[in-house]
Amino acid sequence: MMKTDSPEPILRVAPGPSDINSNGHIFGGWVLSQMDIAAGIVAGRTAQGPTATVAIEAMKFIAPILLQDIISVYAQVERKGRTSMGIRIEVVADRARGAEQVKVTEGLFTFVALDENHRPRPIDWAD
Ligand SMILES: CC(C)(COP(=O)(O)OP(=O)(O)OC[C@H]1O[C@@H](n2cnc3c(N)ncnc32)[C@H](O)[C@@H]1OP(=O)(O)O)[C@@H](O)C(=O)NCCC(=O)NCCS
Repeated sequence: MMKTDSPEPILRVAPGPSDINSNGHIFGGWVLSQMDIAAGIVAGRTAQGPTATVAIEAMKFIAPILLQDIISVYAQVERKGRTSMGIRIEVVADRARGAEQVKVTEGLFTFVALDENHRPRPIDWAD
């Protein structure tokens, strides 16, 4: 499972009261944004330069996020392309003051390495 491959979360963050939807759960857009931020950090480290999200190829909302959850966002490179990479993201909520862990979302986002003209740049996969 990804958590064991990459034991450290890229981000840990708590939603705030303004992130609640009318069901009393957290907006899907809020967690998607956290996933994009975490994957962007991994993409930037991997490409050693600027990157952009070019596609969200998969996104699965598995269980609701609650207001007092703290989410951990795990992200790692799953596909190595010429100028692009696929980053697998998994979000786990710590609930009940850490007594419970719930996998809440997962996704596969594609990032492209960019040059100074905001055009695709080949990624050096040597490292
Ligand atoms: C990223 C961007 C520069 C790519 O330009 P482009 O003309 O599509 O570039 P290319 O066709 O050469 O594709 C570049 C790479 O992206 C991949 N790619 C492009 N569109 C894709 C898509 N919809 N899904 C998956 N991969 C895609 C290509 O397969 C290629 O990968 P490879 O080099 O590893 O084989 C351009 O699409 C862009 O600026 N998009 C906006 C990005 C942005 O602002 N994102 C923030 C969200 S608002």
